[in-house]
Amino acid sequence: MTHSLQSCATLHNGVRMPWLGLGVWKMDNDEQVVSAVRAALDAGYRSIDTAAIYKNEIGVGRALRESRVPRSEIFVTTKIWNDDQGYDRALAAYDESLERLGIDDVDLLLIHWPGKDKFTDTWRAFEKLYADGRVKAIGVSNFNVRHLEALKRVSDLVPMVNQVEYHPLLAQRELLAYCRENRIQLEAWSPLMQGNLDHEALRTIGAKHGKSPAQVVLRWDIQHGVVTIPKSVTPARIAENANVFDFELSEDEMALIDDLNRDQRFGSDPEKFLF
Ligand SMILES: NC(=O)c1ccc[n+]([C@@H]2O[C@H](COP(=O)([O-])OP(=O)(O)OC[C@H]3O[C@@H](n4cnc5c(N)ncnc54)[C@H](OP(=O)(O)O)[C@@H]3O)[C@@H](O)[C@H]2O)c1
Repeated sequence: MTHSLQSCATLHNGVRMPWLGLGVWKMDNDEQVVSAVRAALDAGYRSIDTAAIYKNEIGVGRALRESRVPRSEIFVTTKIWNDDQGYDRALAAYDESLERLGIDDVDLLLIHWPGKDKFTDTWRAFEKLYADGRVKAIGVSNFNVRHLEALKRVSDLVPMVNQVEYHPLLAQRELLAYCRENRIQLEAWSPLMQGNLDHEALRTIGAKHGKSPAQVVLRWDIQHGVVTIPKSVTPARIAENANVFDFELSEDEMALIDDLNRDQRFGSDPEKFLF
């Protein structure tokens, strides 16, 4: 299942999504994002996670076009920002993202945050894009169980993915179980705790396998069945983060990492991020 960087999770509509991709938040639109995406594609990555609000879709698009890897082999995710929620606005925002990326469609389109009260209208727009064959998969981000339940009441189309903050300090057990039951693929943002990797358990386990704390965490994600998108602008780290398919954490090691959970966030709480 997870033998190489090109190994994929299968979403509930049959679309295949790489278990590991590059996140590009906080990368500049110009040289920085272009060179990071290029380094990732050269290292074998086949999945890139951007968003309209990252303001680097143009650079991501340039890197895709300049790469020798065919577009059809690269899984591209983007997200509709909070200001663009609502039926008409979401449809227009998708076209604007495609224009910036310079591609005909994306592999995965996400509602970036549930916000307050517009996400069901935005979801109707996503259903239309999906029904019209304009996007390969649709999903949500930062949705808690209550948001997913609200969608279920108005739509038969279950999101294919829910991208949320997920790492050893925020194990999201209830949400992960709910997503599994409902065939929603969980995807981890800030998997590396935004660089806060200094934990004894991660170091000790890593030493046993000849792996870094970052590699241990990314392997833990994948063994929990969670897609992961570490960010780095550093070519050596981009390669390091991808080198997690040649070892396996034991059940005891998984449990030790599970024990680090403190329900601690590095990013915003969806229940409080309400604009
Ligand atoms: N949906 C959402 O609301 C949402 C929110 C946040 C993030 N995301 C997505 O998730 C992606 C990842 O999250 P993130 O960017 O917040 O943080 P992250 O991937 O958890 O951590 C990135 C930080 O860790 C450092 N780093 C990377 N590899 C390392 C390694 N092997 N050893 C030590 N340090 C390492 C990076 O430094 P350098 O870059 O300097 O190497 C950077 O400072 C984002 O880029 C974005 O695509 C989505």
